[in-house]
Amino acid sequence: MQATNHGLTTIGILYPGEMGAALARLFHAAGYRVVTTCRDRSERTAALARQAGCELLEGLESVVAVSEVILSLVPPAAAVDLARQVAGCNTALPPLYVDANSISPETALEIEQLLGDSGIRFVDAAIHGLASRLPQQGRMYLSGPEAEQLARQWQAVAPMRVVSEQAGRASAMKMLLSGISKGLVALFLEIALTAREADLLDGFLENCDDFYPAIMSAAGRMLPTYPRHAERRAQEIGELEAMLRGLGLRPGMTAEARELIAAVAGARLGGLAQDGELSVRDFIEFLALNNPLRLAEPLSAGAATS
Ligand SMILES: NC(=O)c1ccc[n+]([C@@H]2O[C@H](COP(=O)([O-])OP(=O)(O)OC[C@H]3O[C@@H](n4cnc5c(N)ncnc54)[C@H](OP(=O)(O)O)[C@@H]3O)[C@@H](O)[C@H]2O)c1
Repeated sequence: MQATNHGLTTIGILYPGEMGAALARLFHAAGYRVVTTCRDRSERTAALARQAGCELLEGLESVVAVSEVILSLVPPAAAVDLARQVAGCNTALPPLYVDANSISPETALEIEQLLGDSGIRFVDAAIHGLASRLPQQGRMYLSGPEAEQLARQWQAVAPMRVVSEQAGRASAMKMLLSGISKGLVALFLEIALTAREADLLDGFLENCDDFYPAIMSAAGRMLPTYPRHAERRAQEIGELEAMLRGLGLRPGMTAEARELIAAVAGARLGGLAQDGELSVRDFIEFLALNNPLRLAEPLSAGAATS
């Protein structure tokens, strides 16, 4: 299919990891020219880029030079650095820069500022939902002065929702929503690991199915994706923590959830199974082998309640 009617027809995706490749495929199928570079990237990214129909260019400068829009999709901790690299590229017609990473509103504003200093227009974006189900169950939130126009152009590619004309608001919306899903997973993990320790795991899961079917269905959908994504999700919930602090609030459960998800990442469960192949029960059993909740020195029951 050829591009029709799009104001912005060449999109530079930096970089086609899981989400970048999913979007590259959607844009490619909608007729956009999708470019990227795999310089300094892993073989995994190079393979995903090729499979998604990306045109591979020599380096970042070339991608920035030909793109009308740059879409940033990297681990949240790399988002500012990538924006700085793009700002440092010499180009006659600077592209519109869309950061779609799960970053805090403060980080989005930092990116807006540093790009603005180089004359680059910015849209703050954030994606809620899994890459594999983006068109069906996901949504891209957009904010900033050019968000409305971009949403109109991209709505045929994936579901778009404009949050505000003010950059940072889309990232804030995503942070809030993902705080619910990650917090729910962390609470579920803590209680299920406790049930396992008390030798009640099977009964606990059965009873949860009876009384909390929606929570069990969410756990069944989300937990199997944690072996691969726990590290990124720990970073993302760390951004929510930063948002709370930025608003002068104390991140209680958010901080605890971040610690537990970071421990899941540290447990190196990756490679256990592909997404969707691991049952909730197996996940808990694997995690219990190195139970991240175990205290170095058990408290007595009295000490715990006093
Ligand atoms: N996957 C999802 O379902 C999902 C859902 C919602 C939001 N998101 C957001 O989408 C963004 C990307 O997530 P993802 O799941 O696609 O992650 P991913 O599969 O790990 O892909 C990340 C990409 O960024 C590259 N990268 C890693 N470190 C980098 C660095 N320091 N500088 C520049 N590029 C670097 C990776 O290249 P290498 O291969 O060389 O490491 C890879 O191409 C994140 O901000 C995430 O929060 C993802």
